[in-house]
Amino acid sequence: MNETVKVALKSHPHQYEIKIGNNLLADSGVWAKSCLANSAKKIVVISNPKVFSLYGEKVAESLKNQGFEVLIHKIGDGEKYKNLRTLEKTLDFFSRHQLKRSDAVIALGGGVVGDLTGFASSIYLRGISFLQIPTTLLSMIDSSVGGKTGVNSNFGKNLIGTFHQPNGVLIDVDTLKTLPRRELTAGFCEAVKQGAIANPNLFNQTSDFLKKYSPNHFKKYFFSNLFLTDLQKLIASQVAFKAEIVKGDERENLEKSGNRSRKILNFGHTVGHALEKVTNYKYFKHGEAVGIGILVAGEISKRVANLVQNELNLLNDVVKLTGSLPNWQNIETKNIIEAFEFDKKNVGDSLQWILLEKIGQPIIYPNSKIPDSVIIESISAVVKKSTCP
Ligand SMILES: NC(=O)c1ccc[n+]([C@@H]2O[C@H](COP(=O)([O-])OP(=O)(O)OC[C@H]3O[C@@H](n4cnc5c(N)ncnc54)[C@H](O)[C@@H]3O)[C@@H](O)[C@H]2O)c1
Ligand SMILES: [Zn+2]
Repeated sequence: MNETVKVALKSHPHQYEIKIGNNLLADSGVWAKSCLANSAKKIVVISNPKVFSLYGEKVAESLKNQGFEVLIHKIGDGEKYKNLRTLEKTLDFFSRHQLKRSDAVIALGGGVVGDLTGFASSIYLRGISFLQIPTTLLSMIDSSVGGKTGVNSNFGKNLIGTFHQPNGVLIDVDTLKTLPRRELTAGFCEAVKQGAIANPNLFNQTSDFLKKYSPNHFKKYFFSNLFLTDLQKLIASQVAFKAEIVKGDERENLEKSGNRSRKILNFGHTVGHALEKVTNYKYFKHGEAVGIGILVAGEISKRVANLVQNELNLLNDVVKLTGSLPNWQNIETKNIIEAFEFDKKNVGDSLQWILLEKIGQPIIYPNSKIPDSVIIESISAVVKKSTCP
């Protein structure tokens, strides 16, 4: 059984579909054809060596069977390759192979491949069609939905980019069978974030899934049809939530501050980004840092936004179920707080926190309304809980 989430955006002439299922890669050519205009002749598949060796041939074969001329472009594996140099090499590849405006590109990989491919396709000849086949949990539920593309640069992470919606997204959950445990944990932390800000239904669905299927033993569940159905349903619900938020705030309007603005997706990210920054982006997976950020934002929410203890406990329990997070207890609190300044520069105005009044009820809170003592106390409460279980 497949799940489909339809995304209709004002800025996009056609709605596009996010198709979720298992064993889908073998027919990815048929899917690509259905998403693209008949004039599309060439397709560039962009991937990295690791993901391509696992899934590339299957996708390329299926595209060829549908009559596409298939070109393969591999970029380096990892965040450090999401940069202007890789972008330039990618544009150069398009140009050398005479890609036309009617042709298309496919991102096959995680968020790094997706963000870079989306950006390249949005600026080459002022925009060509692009399809996404996300292969990490994070890219399935988060980065492949919403049209944000970009690269890192000397100015900072993700500060150069565009909004460019794909013509279609294909999520084959089978690809998660090979995803390393830490990447699963990172993806599930973002899923917990979305559940916590969305509504009790998505929160409980995510929590129930994690109680049933531990990311520590993920591979062994793939033989079970019930697991595959539960996984597809969870991803579909997560994607539908993100799509709904994006629909209401396509370009992250700076003036928008309601509890359904795109900003709420940053729940857990103030401390998350600070932890990544103080460790030079080398120690945490982004989602892992967000997991810790959720715990701290939960404690702050209890202190300033009246989140009740019972709901805070539920939040802490579900983060625990995502798998073990790297040790961070020795990082100095003052360094974390200093790193908030960096986030402030990124948004161009004063730092805002996303807190929870209740599960499913986020609130945007100016930093000026939260005394440093509350932040220090909250970080120390999380450290205490994580060191004496
Ligand atoms: N555009 C957005 O809205 C948005 C949202 C969130 C995050 N992001 C971006 O996404 C990126 C992070 O994405 P990510 O977490 O997917 O990381 P990633 O793309 O670096 O992938 C993580 C690792 O998993 C490997 N991998 C991918 N799929 C695999 C599979 N099926 N089996 C085995 N290994 C596999 C990759 O080779 C890589 O080593 C960051 O650059 C972040 O800025 C973008
Ligand atoms: Zn994130």
